[in-house]
Amino acid sequence: MNFSNEKIPKPVIIKEIKEESAYVKTFKLGSYIEGYKFENIAPGKFCNIWIPKFNMKPFSISDFENDLLSFTVKKIGKTTTYMYEKLKIGDKIGLMGPLGKGFTIQGNNVLLVGGGFGLAPLRYLLKELLKNKLNITSLLGFKTESDIFFLDIFEKYSNLHITTEDGCMGIKSKYCTDQLDYIFEEHKIDQIYCCGPELMMFKVLEFAIEHNINAQFSLERYIGCGIGICGKCVLNGKFRVCLDGPVIDSSQLKELSDFGRLKLTKNGSKIKIE
Ligand SMILES: Cc1cc2nc3c(=O)[nH]c(=O)nc-3n(C[C@H](O)[C@H](O)[C@H](O)COP(=O)(O)OP(=O)(O)OC[C@H]3O[C@@H](n4cnc5c(N)ncnc54)[C@H](O)[C@@H]3O)c2cc1C
Ligand code: FES
Repeated sequence: MNFSNEKIPKPVIIKEIKEESAYVKTFKLGSYIEGYKFENIAPGKFCNIWIPKFNMKPFSISDFENDLLSFTVKKIGKTTTYMYEKLKIGDKIGLMGPLGKGFTIQGNNVLLVGGGFGLAPLRYLLKELLKNKLNITSLLGFKTESDIFFLDIFEKYSNLHITTEDGCMGIKSKYCTDQLDYIFEEHKIDQIYCCGPELMMFKVLEFAIEHNINAQFSLERYIGCGIGICGKCVLNGKFRVCLDGPVIDSSQLKELSDFGRLKLTKNGSKIKIE
């Protein structure tokens, strides 16, 4: 079997598990096929993680170090709850990928804007940005203390700004995007990278357009096949999140009127984003 083909699920083993918060765990996966090495691991790309006899779901790469691929999973529904509660070190699962298009590294004074499990791809991106010696600022929004994770790495390697909805840490604000004007001026931002709830990303897109700066967004949609065939992840009938994204540039994204408004469900019906 040709394991270098990213469309073929590969057997991997869980080498480490780290509890990041009450709802978030990072799984470090290694290959156990002799001679096989992970390749083409760019920030922003994702993998379909296959739990045998259960389900397959997409997760962004949150780190790559010592030949171990990390995925940071937030307990939300059926699969993620199973992963959080049942998977253990030594379990053998499947991995398809890396899939999709990742971030392009550019700019001098860059801003990372994130919330929720959007911090997963931004964490790996942060490490890659550091190699390019860029001036990095981050703006992270959380609901409350129990939602907070990855703070140590963002604090260590970027000018960190935090907002929380209940004011338990950082600035008390429902929307972290309220801080964009101030941060833009203070740090002379010329490039934005963003991943988080879609309505937050929508505000960042509006900001980027208004200030004429480039922004890159990692989108989320229901993923069926993950390789561009089924059409379940499509925006505006043409942009496939799994193949043309998940990372998309602001100039391209502003042409997709579904963004921030409509998404397809598992069974293909269009619903409003709230
Ligand atoms: C490209 C890509 C990268 C992703 N990367 C990550 C990652 O790094 N870490 C991670 O934890 N997740 C990531 N996800 C999302 C992950 O695949 C979902 O969390 C997962 O599909 C939920 O599966 P589930 O079976 O647990 O929930 P389901 O059983 O499918 O859903 C249960 C309930 O939760 C709701 N729900 C589903 N997703 C969300 C959501 N995102 N926010 C709020 N409610 C939701 C559903 O409407 C449903 O009511 C990514 C998705 C994509 C497309
Ligand atoms: S998930 Fe099938 S085309 Fe994107």
